[in-house]
Amino acid sequence: MSRIAYVNGRYLPHRAASVHIEDRGYQFADGVYEVCEVRGGRLVDERRHMARLQRSLTELRIPLPMPLPALSVVLHETVRRNRVGNGLVYLQVTRGVARRDFAFPSPEGSPSVVVTARRLDFASNEKRASDGMSVITVPDNRWERVDIKSVSLLPNVLAKQAAYDKGAREAWFVDHDGQVTEGASSNAWIVTADGKVVTRPAERGILRGITRTVLLDAIKAEGLKLEERPFTVAEAYAAKEAFVTSASQIVMPVVRIDGRPVGEGRPGRIAAALRTAFHRYAEFS
Ligand code: PDD
Repeated sequence: MSRIAYVNGRYLPHRAASVHIEDRGYQFADGVYEVCEVRGGRLVDERRHMARLQRSLTELRIPLPMPLPALSVVLHETVRRNRVGNGLVYLQVTRGVARRDFAFPSPEGSPSVVVTARRLDFASNEKRASDGMSVITVPDNRWERVDIKSVSLLPNVLAKQAAYDKGAREAWFVDHDGQVTEGASSNAWIVTADGKVVTRPAERGILRGITRTVLLDAIKAEGLKLEERPFTVAEAYAAKEAFVTSASQIVMPVVRIDGRPVGEGRPGRIAAALRTAFHRYAEFS
């Protein structure tokens, strides 16, 4: 079955789906995106993802390309046309097509919208979760506005590749103070020896992950101890457990950091419990 993409008002087979060479997304990475989990054919936390999309667009002064209810129809229709039961839906909005010029086009053009959807292999994700994964640490060399979910992801691409080159699956960025900010495409968490779940506050240095936000609700509701504060690489090495969160991985245990085993080198009890609990606290649409 050929995959179908939504591109500026049309549903097209991928081989025919393309954007203009002067799209500002292509030329300047002048655009934003969202990734939502699809589970049982439904979107997970669409409302929060759309709220973050609006925020990212506002920060970059890109207009919302269509009202949110219309965008919701496109997201669901793309999932349906690709027959995605469990997987992801990807939405990208750029400032649109204009002659190459750094300043915003005047008059303002219309934003470009692309939506794709794909299946994820449920069984292999569960296998990874039961094995746990390795991460490496790398210096955080990104710009300060990582709170915007921009498609400008080159440092993240290079960090992720550095991880893969070392047989790891994720790279954790580390700031000038030796504190972990977040993963190349996920938020970072540890569980301390005395059972506190620790993650960096979302005020500075990280993307406010939707999975992170929902998991904070889950942690409170499940009566776990929580500390929203930065943590150092040394603390991560000494942690009892570690894990990452993202729409594509939900809660994924980390069992090695820079080659050192985390705790006993196996997925932790709290990470596993939170992975199981997560969808009880998520919204489905
Ligand atoms: N990545 N931090 C970064 C830098 C991310 O790219 C992501 C998501 C997250 C987690 O956010 P959320 O829980 O809302 O998915 C944190 C997506 C999945 C991606 O780029 O594919």
